[in-house]
Amino acid sequence: MKIIHVVGARPNFMKVAPVLRALSRRTSVEQILVHTGQHYDANMSDVFFAQLGIPAPDVNLEVGSGSHAAQTADIMRRFEPVVLEHKPDLVLVYGDVNSTVAAALVCAKLLVRLGHVEAGLRSFDRNMPEEINRLVTDQLADMLFTPSEDGDINLQREGVPLSRIYRVGNVMIDSLVRLLPQAAADGSRPEKPYALVTLHRPSNVDDSETLRAILACLVGVSEKFEVIFPTHPRTRRRIAEFGLDTDKLTFLDPLSYLDFLALQREAAVVITDSGGIQEETTFLGVPCLTLRNNTERPVTVSMGTNILVGQDPGRLRHELSKIMAGERKTGTIPPLWDGLASERIAGLVAGPPTVSDRDKILHDVSR
Ligand code: UD1
Repeated sequence: MKIIHVVGARPNFMKVAPVLRALSRRTSVEQILVHTGQHYDANMSDVFFAQLGIPAPDVNLEVGSGSHAAQTADIMRRFEPVVLEHKPDLVLVYGDVNSTVAAALVCAKLLVRLGHVEAGLRSFDRNMPEEINRLVTDQLADMLFTPSEDGDINLQREGVPLSRIYRVGNVMIDSLVRLLPQAAADGSRPEKPYALVTLHRPSNVDDSETLRAILACLVGVSEKFEVIFPTHPRTRRRIAEFGLDTDKLTFLDPLSYLDFLALQREAAVVITDSGGIQEETTFLGVPCLTLRNNTERPVTVSMGTNILVGQDPGRLRHELSKIMAGERKTGTIPPLWDGLASERIAGLVAGPPTVSDRDKILHDVSR
């Protein structure tokens, strides 16, 4: 069986890595990895391939940046001939970025079977481009792999037949479980307590007043904690453009997977607008304040350590003062976030391991 995996942007490299690994142990499966080139800087892409042990892509579509329509259309134009050439039995797409929806549309039109890893998540906020990508991809997919129960419920509400929905758990946590020991051993972190910050959503960084208010609040935090801020290229550009640079915050270039994990693990608090970081902090038991009004990952709030503070600096300050006073939200790890989600996907896609697969697994384990 031939499977094409499509990824293109930073948050999905840690999702494809464990699925590639799990399926590489199936002798019946041939895998082709397509990188759309949505993220192309070395520190937004190459470093993740190296640390996560992802083989070099078989195909790079090299689309680069652009408006949503231009980027999505470019990916579709360049991906269609790849599908026609390789004639896969299944295409797997990940997450909710433009690369995901573009590849899904191509497959649907060519009647190629499509699997969506991280299906069913909903913020119910169509101002987020990712929500549009989620809705469309899930309508088109034949196999929907969900990380949590809310995903199954959302999909059924939208009319997706139960027979297409497979709750497998969280593949991003598979990568975390595998690489956390290495991150703990390798990564360096400050001696004194620190807050770790990431921001890249257009709603937080593209408006000068919103960004100014958030940075002012972070400067307040810096009186108590060092504020470490690995900065997405978009955010870096906005800070320069709006003249908001400050030496009170430690701005860094985007970090590698292992360096970021090492910092996350020991942070006093993580302040973010990312999706995946809400999940990682929940798994790690680290308090997370999310600068959004909603989340497509509600289990991180109901079960985990995540608190939504919206774009309200007063609320952010209030929650920070509680954390600084030692009042941390505690949580539990959601079911099936156990490091084995990708094995479940491999079983569903390629069937149970055969005798020769078992030999290969034993060989891999013994190395
Ligand atoms: C994309 C995803 C978002 C995800 C995020 C993680 C969509 C709609 N959004 O947002 O869901 O959380 O990735 O980072 O797909 N840029 C560089 N170098 C790069 C990549 C981007 O400088 O390697 C700059 C470009 O100026 C580009 C901008 O960042 O225009 C935004 O990149 P883009 O891929 O359009 O969206 P992200 O904001 O990264």
